[in-house]
Amino acid sequence: MTLQTQGPVVLPALLLCDFGHLAHEVERLEAAGAAALHLDVMDGRFVPQLTYGQVVVEAVRRSAKVPLEVHLMIEEPERSLADYAKLGADIITIHIEALADPRPALRAIADLGSRAHLALNPETPLSRIEPYLDACDGVLVMSVEPGFGGQAFNPIALEKLSRLAELRRERGGSFRLGVDGGVSVETIGPVAAAGAELIVAGSAVIRSPDYGRAIAELEGLARQAA
Ligand code: DX5
Ligand code: ZN
Repeated sequence: MTLQTQGPVVLPALLLCDFGHLAHEVERLEAAGAAALHLDVMDGRFVPQLTYGQVVVEAVRRSAKVPLEVHLMIEEPERSLADYAKLGADIITIHIEALADPRPALRAIADLGSRAHLALNPETPLSRIEPYLDACDGVLVMSVEPGFGGQAFNPIALEKLSRLAELRRERGGSFRLGVDGGVSVETIGPVAAAGAELIVAGSAVIRSPDYGRAIAELEGLARQAA
């Protein structure tokens, strides 16, 4: 499945949803118009929190009709790429901080038939990923320290997004720009204006009583600003 978009879209992150009613949450998010879902896999080593792995991703895949982005916040991500691809992860996002050279892992994801996205933490300079942009289907700019939902947006992400959009124009690249962390009605305009197209939103959607209204409001603000 490919995520076709025209203009910026919101990818709800499941992290803060009710995992006791996972299929129901997936259904609610799809009914709310989610273009795709963002799944945060954390191993308690690369980041302090331990969330879930293949069993839960597989359960989401079974109930979801929309594409899935699996955000791997784990050490040695190269070891589980084939498993997540086989489960039907449409986008597999790996962290530059977890790999000395991400090129083999990016190529492996592409060979497995998924989209290869590369994420970078707020303190990681853009120069660290620049050499690999040609091998990426997308870049995920972290606007919080990965590990927890509900943190405040770090504006360093705006500079990185703008610079990446510029690099893409200069080099004629085709990678997509994503952003993850602290996105809200206050911050979504600036991230869309800076070039973000795949915009992850956890608490801004899941803590709202009406997912549909939250997604529509966020996407409306993003489109106005883009
Ligand atoms: C942070 C995760 C995010 C997080 C987003 O480690 O990668 O996807 O769930 O949640 P909010 O939007 O609440 O920052
Ligand atoms: Zn994430």
